[in-house]
Amino acid sequence: MIERWWPEIGLEPFYADEFCVLFKCDCREVLRRLLDKAVHHVITDPPFEAEAHFKQATRAKVKSFSVETTELPFAPIDELTRTYIGREFSRISDGWQLIFCQAEALASWRDAVLCTAFPNMVTPAEYVRSQLWIKPAGQPQYTGDRPGQGYEAIATAWSGRERMWWNGGGRHGIYTANPRRAGGEANLHPTEKPIPLMLTLIDLFTKKGQIVLDAFAGVASTGVAAKTHGRRAILCEMNDKYAEIGARRLATTKEQMQLFDFENYVEPAQTPIVDDDGVSILKKKKRKARAL
Ligand SMILES: C[S@@+](CC[C@H](N)C(=O)[O-])C[C@H]1O[C@@H](n2cnc3c(N)ncnc32)[C@H](O)[C@@H]1O
Repeated sequence: MIERWWPEIGLEPFYADEFCVLFKCDCREVLRRLLDKAVHHVITDPPFEAEAHFKQATRAKVKSFSVETTELPFAPIDELTRTYIGREFSRISDGWQLIFCQAEALASWRDAVLCTAFPNMVTPAEYVRSQLWIKPAGQPQYTGDRPGQGYEAIATAWSGRERMWWNGGGRHGIYTANPRRAGGEANLHPTEKPIPLMLTLIDLFTKKGQIVLDAFAGVASTGVAAKTHGRRAILCEMNDKYAEIGARRLATTKEQMQLFDFENYVEPAQTPIVDDDGVSILKKKKRKARAL
């Protein structure tokens, strides 16, 4: 029996453990029930716009030499949904919002989290910047008549009540990770995010024990990364098959010691090489040894 650590929202979870809870439903059912600032951060990967879904379908068709159109098994995002979701993310989260999207959609996501459609609302978020996920071994351009798409953007906003912080110091918001699993293993979802990428984002933007919301969880990659590094995650996925795969992945994920603990990192005490008079301590020791 898992003790409930997530806010009571009157919905039965599909899966729960001490780090992750997964609701198998339309995320809007969960979002509208969460109180203001109920989670620390949002890290999520919503469906892309209709034209990107069409591109994916064409690519799949060419790859399999099939004449049928293969659709992604979920609907593209529409403007009404984006506006609603962006406002809810800014209301519910008390820290970072990292939203994967096409570069072409960055401004739309920025407007959605800044709630520009609600002019009477006090701006609940600050748009910080756009980050990039580079995919060195991404899908090639099968038609060969234009450059392939080798990256995704990450719209990044802050809706915390505290001062903004992150664990990355002066590094850039550019991440390199291959979209395919290592060793030729098949991906579990057509737009699955690689775990090394998600672990990096979790490490850089969250602290141990904090709650991350992924409203478009797919096969729960954000949850796996959160649990691995001792964060908690509230996940929503409306597709039965992906929710089941996600739950299985979460159940087999174990919290692991971080190789590098960004938050609790303490600069090691330096052994002084010169003493207060500016004289080399090593030379002094050698002189002392010779004198004996
Ligand atoms: C781009 S995929 C996310 C993939 C995920 N990052 C992963 O690594 O598996 C978006 C997911 O959101 C789900 N979805 C779409 N609309 C939803 C909604 N309104 N509520 C909950 N899930 C939704 C889709 O079924 C799809 O699996």
